[in-house]
Amino acid sequence: MHRTKSITICAIALILGAMALPAGGQYTPAKHAPQATTAAARDWWKNAVIYEIYPRSFQDSNGDGIGDLNGITQRMDYLKELGVDAIWLTPVYPSPQADFGYDISDYKNIDPQYGTLADFDRLVAEAGKRHIRIVMDMVMNHTSDQHKWFIESRSSRTNPYRDWYMWRDGKGETATSKGAPPNNWQSEFGHSAWQWDEKTRQYYYHKFYLQQADLNWNNPKVHQAFKDIIGFWLQRGVGGLRFDAITTLFEDPSDTDENVLLDKSGNPILDAFGEPTVDGLKTEFLPGVHAVMQEMRATMDTFNAASFPGTRVVIGETYVANIAALAEEYGSAQRPEFHLPMDTQLGMLDTLNVAQFRARLLDAETGLNGNTPLFVFDNHDRPRLDMRYGDGVHNSDIQRVISTVLFASRGAALFYYGDEIGMKTTPPTRKEDVKDPVGVTGWPKEKGRDGERTPMQWNASANAGFTPAGVKPWLPVPPTSATVNVQAEEADPNSLLAWYKALIHLKKTNPAFADGTDIMLDPENTKVLSWMRQRDGAPQVVVAVNFTADPQTVNLSAREAGLKAAHLKTLLKSPGGADPASTEAIELAPFGVYIGEVQ
Ligand code: NOJ
Ligand code: CA
Repeated sequence: MHRTKSITICAIALILGAMALPAGGQYTPAKHAPQATTAAARDWWKNAVIYEIYPRSFQDSNGDGIGDLNGITQRMDYLKELGVDAIWLTPVYPSPQADFGYDISDYKNIDPQYGTLADFDRLVAEAGKRHIRIVMDMVMNHTSDQHKWFIESRSSRTNPYRDWYMWRDGKGETATSKGAPPNNWQSEFGHSAWQWDEKTRQYYYHKFYLQQADLNWNNPKVHQAFKDIIGFWLQRGVGGLRFDAITTLFEDPSDTDENVLLDKSGNPILDAFGEPTVDGLKTEFLPGVHAVMQEMRATMDTFNAASFPGTRVVIGETYVANIAALAEEYGSAQRPEFHLPMDTQLGMLDTLNVAQFRARLLDAETGLNGNTPLFVFDNHDRPRLDMRYGDGVHNSDIQRVISTVLFASRGAALFYYGDEIGMKTTPPTRKEDVKDPVGVTGWPKEKGRDGERTPMQWNASANAGFTPAGVKPWLPVPPTSATVNVQAEEADPNSLLAWYKALIHLKKTNPAFADGTDIMLDPENTKVLSWMRQRDGAPQVVVAVNFTADPQTVNLSAREAGLKAAHLKTLLKSPGGADPASTEAIELAPFGVYIGEVQ
């Protein structure tokens, strides 16, 4: 990996960095971005461990109850010790915070709540000193209604920015009536996706909240504006971008209704907001997205210096229907798109089912044309792992199961702050406490996403070390912080945090774990998921994971699947686990995990 550090390399790298730009490019290399040899810099993302931070909730440094960039910088040694290669920050740009940053009003600055551009540069520098890259969120589907482009756009029908957004007449509109919305397209956040704007007497389209107006990606000026924004951040030394809501960039030009889903009696199925559920095919997955991503990837590739600071990774929020659709998100060798489109096929299964896990891992191994999967089980939009996979009794053990699948499979791994200590989903209990627009609109059926965005639990003090005692944090600190916190888990060798660190260490130091192929073992077993990591010239490694609350014994016969020998050297096992004498009798405690090298 990229571990070399010397003044000479830095100087060469600065020159190469500048040379890698197209003529006229004004590359100002970040002083402390990660350094690397060429090959390692190019491939760092292929087995990267990426940590998602929701900046509002990670660490408050100035006592206003809101997490900020300087807070993240203060915690950089913790992240280094955890072993992360990159941090994905959800949006920190200026924003009215209607959707907590996903409504951006200025793409080239930092929201004062989170700090300044100087704070951002310091964050990149401090991360870089520890070989950690910063990945920014890139929201191209929509802007805030307070963005200057939209303010211009809504000011008159002839404004030059009018066609940067999607304006339509109402159905049956007259001089005195706005008519009905142009069609039945629905917002992800509830109700019609069309908002009437009295000033110019037309509707604008918003796939998400009404303060998040959709951009018109048929307008070349929008493309140019984003290429410019991307250059701005890459020049500041960011290690990559995560493209938000990418499947919704385009809409069907016919403007016709979506199909409504019907129940067995032929009645519309109502969604959490009481509206007919639609299939979304007129507003999602339209093919034009591929050309846009090819364009953005090509732009980003021009910033890839031969060495320092290496490949700028292109990550995608790609909730797609199946593995074939995911494979398309990588693009082709001639026209690449994402390096790492998120594989939500596996991680969002939301059920601990061995056969389904095995099938999805196999899909990723065989269905992505040799591309690298990015596994992810958790993020700021979904209830945390306890709610989706836990049984209420063995939650920590179940998280060992999930994290083993995440880190012990071939590919890059993305996880969410607080997973490593087993933070629990803590949804609001009263409507008046809800902050997320989804919960405000959907209460009580849809409580929104506050429950998975509560402050990071650093210690057992009041406010858990997130913000000083006596300050009101923007979301309440869960009572579980008394026992579930970093400080307590750092002191306990059997903690979940210790497990995460050990697994990540293995991913980085064991050659088969780094990029060995995944080969499924014992493929009919419905209680234990077992696989082997295999790489030429390195010892094979077997992984066995008990998906049940009962003890299990597995026999990974040396004959099957090319397993070369029967003796095992333990690399890692869950607390209380046994060291098996051979691959033929691996004993696993309830939800137990065993990882051993074949000798
Ligand atoms: C996906 C983001 O992850 C989510 O938090 C946000 O609300 C929507 N995109 C809209 O930007
Ligand atoms: Ca703060």
